[in-house]
Amino acid sequence: MRAAIEIRELSVTFATRRGSHAALDRLSLTVMPGTICGFLGPNGAGKTTTLHVLLGFIPPTAGSATLLGADVRQSIARERIGYLPENPDLYGFLSGWELLAFAGRLFGLDRATLRQRSRTLLEETGLADDADRRIATYSRGMKQRLGLAQALINDPDLLILDEPTGGLDPLARLDVRRILAGRRAAGKTVFFSSHELSEVESVCDRIAILARGRLVAEGTLAGLVPPGQTLERFFIDSVTDRKGCEV
Ligand SMILES: Nc1ncnc2c1ncn2[C@@H]1O[C@H](COP(=O)(O)OP(=O)(O)OP(=O)(O)O)[C@@H](O)[C@H]1O
Ligand SMILES: [Mg+2]
Repeated sequence: MRAAIEIRELSVTFATRRGSHAALDRLSLTVMPGTICGFLGPNGAGKTTTLHVLLGFIPPTAGSATLLGADVRQSIARERIGYLPENPDLYGFLSGWELLAFAGRLFGLDRATLRQRSRTLLEETGLADDADRRIATYSRGMKQRLGLAQALINDPDLLILDEPTGGLDPLARLDVRRILAGRRAAGKTVFFSSHELSEVESVCDRIAILARGRLVAEGTLAGLVPPGQTLERFFIDSVTDRKGCEV
């Protein structure tokens, strides 16, 4: 079966004032179709950098990556993708409806499909009553929900989300979990970065943990976390040398 995401020996080095900084160091990772994979790691570990390479925003310094079989350097690789950035920057002068219409037109959706899909997504993200208001008047969490709706407007086969539940209340998080599980049930693939370990535990089939640009753990929760241990403990042990310290 063809991988939804295949990352091979990926390295990214940024030029800095002091010389260079290796944000990713020979990262290899495979995400299979129909699964939800959580991408974990401390601040600055390289998660967003990885997603930016997948989205074609920054070129790899070395190595390669494919999305649904297409090299990420080709724009065709992003045709069947939905993406939610770390800090979605949505046009404040548009309403929720208008933003989804704009995004849908970019993907060439016909009017009827766009209307029906926008309605469903606004319901799913709990924004149906606010859809006519200008986005500038939305709260942070509402913008985040709308960003997710926008990422889903093309019914993507692969959803790439950078901290989708950052700033969301517990009810909205539950909605997001439901949405992601629903996409998986429809055979879609989800790859998302997160610091919310409880969420990752409840929805992911597999997790990948990054530390200082390197993959330090990858697998199913049951396969990685020993019985009686929490994911939090496992995470801290994986990314630091603080083995056994109190949490
Ligand atoms: N354009 C850039 N120029 C120089 N360094 C950069 C650039 N973008 C990212 N970095 C560095 O690369 C490293 C990885 O950053 P990245 O944003 O990928 O981390 P992250 O895992 O997403 O962290 P967080 O959990 O805080 O979102 C950091 O040290 C960051 O400072
Ligand atoms: Mg990030």
